[in-house]
Amino acid sequence: PLKVNKILCIGAGYVGGPTCAVIALKCPHITVTIVDLNQARIDAWNSADFALPIYEPGLEDVVRQCRGRNLFFSTDVDKGIREADLIFVSVNTPTKKSGVGAGFAADLNYVELATRQIAAVATSSKIVVEKSTVPCRTAESMRTILEANSKPNCRFDILSNPEFLAEGTAISDLFSPDRVLIGSLQTPEGKAACASLAGVYANWVPENRILTVGLWSSELSKLAANAMLAQRISSVNALSAICEATGANIDEVAHAVGYDSRVGPKFLKASVGFGGSCFQKDILNLVYLSESLHLPEVAAYWRQVVEMNEYQKRRFSKRVVDTLFNTITGKRIAVLGFAFKADTGDTRESAAITLIRDFQSERAFVNIYDPQVSETQIWSDLAEASPTVPAETIKKQVKICGSALEACRDAEAVVIATEWKEFKEIDWKEVYQHMKKPAFVFDGRLLVDAAALTAIGFKVTTIGRPSL
Ligand code: NAD
Ligand code: UDX
Repeated sequence: PLKVNKILCIGAGYVGGPTCAVIALKCPHITVTIVDLNQARIDAWNSADFALPIYEPGLEDVVRQCRGRNLFFSTDVDKGIREADLIFVSVNTPTKKSGVGAGFAADLNYVELATRQIAAVATSSKIVVEKSTVPCRTAESMRTILEANSKPNCRFDILSNPEFLAEGTAISDLFSPDRVLIGSLQTPEGKAACASLAGVYANWVPENRILTVGLWSSELSKLAANAMLAQRISSVNALSAICEATGANIDEVAHAVGYDSRVGPKFLKASVGFGGSCFQKDILNLVYLSESLHLPEVAAYWRQVVEMNEYQKRRFSKRVVDTLFNTITGKRIAVLGFAFKADTGDTRESAAITLIRDFQSERAFVNIYDPQVSETQIWSDLAEASPTVPAETIKKQVKICGSALEACRDAEAVVIATEWKEFKEIDWKEVYQHMKKPAFVFDGRLLVDAAALTAIGFKVTTIGRPSL
């Protein structure tokens, strides 16, 4: 197999950036270049004060060690393609907004454009690695495009190497992955390309954690993994509704169920609903795939995981309104957390966006505080969530605050939407003093000690527990 010396990554986002920065760190003998069309993003990766475009614990340290040594960020995609022996395609694959499959299918336009650019520019053989999450058999389309455009002495081998990192823990996930999955054609050439990529990971990943499979299995495994993870959350969230109605406690139920070694304790935390750029998109993608394969029962099964998640968000907003004496009009609600989970500044599909939109449509005033999300991002997400509401109206209803304490001042209720550790450590006694009474707390993340807050005087409502 070819020994990889130069790696290019197309797409400097949440996946391409951290993944290839870690490859550069662990493989000092390999030159890694990450390219993107977005100049501002590349400038941020290259910024002198390391104001990187994404917030991820440990990432800055990795970039500080490698940038300028064997890790480079650039917008010169063509040069990158010409020089590389192995190219990761790590571009975005959002849900299609229009056309066939709108609302379900993945928009593969970015993958296709990147593939065509590789075909047009390459003058030597390349291993092309599909890193983006794509529907089953996308590699086949990439291969067709590359082969139809290849020049003499220029062969392309396609691999699928989906990424399993979770945001907020990306660096530790990359340092010690549960597994690295590589899919290839089962031909001698395919297997050789697979061995080349496995050789890169072998610099730090134990051999028994590098799994090699067929191309299609690899592609489907990524969708399957996300669907099964999200299904656990929807299952536990469905049970949280039963707990609220019966007096059971979802934490106790999840603990008892997770103790069964066949189920396992992780990823069973009830919440306001899962968010993030992957779960919903990848499940809808699986639903679309199932429908295209004429498997309507399979499609309906997975679709329900997303529907349960929508229900969970709706149910939570309704519980807030019900508890606040059936109206929140004109009331001030503090929303703590805007990111889709803690330790990230990413807001894609964040449950907080839906909750705030619901509060706005009840004509409440909303104070928002998140330790990582920028104001610009919050305004743009809120505008996108309520396309028919003029920006001035949103700005009149919503205030973005610099601290949790500031957000809670004069509020009637606090809603915990993201499980940031600092919300656990707030001086809740002080918060209580500055709130309107009765002061309500709605814990959508099972984060705070309900008994301690009740002792202070708060009226606490926790997801998966009956109202007191
Ligand atoms: P992202 O939007 O953060 O980054 C993608 C980048 O690709 C953007 O900066 C965009 O400008 C760039 N790009 C698009 N087309 C390009 C082109 N032709 N040339 C150069 N640059 C181009 O997306 P992301 O979150 O990094 O996700 C990338 C892929 O990885 C998606 O398929 C996603 O499903 C998958 N994935 C994401 C996660 C996650 O946690 N975010 C985890 C696993 C897999
Ligand atoms: C997910 C997958 O975990 C990862 O393997 C894949 O590569 C990308 O998609 P990510 O979306 O970054 O990662 O974060 P994850 O930790 O999975 O959380 C997703 C959402 O589920 C978050 O909103 C989180 O708060 C929520 N969640 C997670 C729960 O509500 N309960 C849980 O027990 C776990």
